Amino acid sequence: MKFFLDTANIDQIKEARDLGVLDGVTTNPSLMAKEGITGKDNIRKHYEEICKIVDGDVSAEVIATEYEEMVEEGEYLAEIADNIVVKIPMIKDGVKAIRHLSDNGIKINCTLVFSAGQAILCAKAGASYVSPFIGRIDDINWNGMQLIHDIAEIYAVQGFETEILAASIRSSLHIVESARNGADVVTCPLDAILGMLKHPLTDIGLEKFLADHKNAQK
Ligand code: E4P
Repeated sequence: MKFFLDTANIDQIKEARDLGVLDGVTTNPSLMAKEGITGKDNIRKHYEEICKIVDGDVSAEVIATEYEEMVEEGEYLAEIADNIVVKIPMIKDGVKAIRHLSDNGIKINCTLVFSAGQAILCAKAGASYVSPFIGRIDDINWNGMQLIHDIAEIYAVQGFETEILAASIRSSLHIVESARNGADVVTCPLDAILGMLKHPLTDIGLEKFLADHKNAQK
């Protein structure tokens, strides 16, 4: 399973890269706004910077919501760097744009997916990634992880090649459960990845090893 970082924050991207577990990055308009990145030129420069740091796919989301504009913006984003993946929302014009762009060799991440039906449409349209939003489903008291399980089952039965990118990850447990349920990729905040390091018995065990070693030197 690949680890993507769900952020536009350069320091966090470098930290995950230096940890040696980073396979890619996803951004969205909210994450870009959070970093204060505004204006066409700054947005382009920011994507260029991320793409140089990351040896893997970097999702850049279109703002347009109509077919022609989505295609135009998708083509613009795709030529920023070889590792850009264009992120398109799961709406009717989006499905048309996914078909057109993927037919023209541009990798697509279909975002804002909340049902198995939407995931089937993503795969049919030729998206490279489908992004089901686990945390936001849990927020409304439905079962986000069940959706990952259902999509994995359907894609396996049908032989769809679209990769399942578990998104809206809120915790380390979400990462573990996404792995168990068949996600190909998780995109997560840095804290959720670092949280996987933690176990009290690791800390206690290390403390004892170091104390025993120190005592033996006396
Ligand atoms: C997916 O690519 C989205 O950027 C992201 O995972 C959304 O997560 P959120 O629900 O925490 O905003």
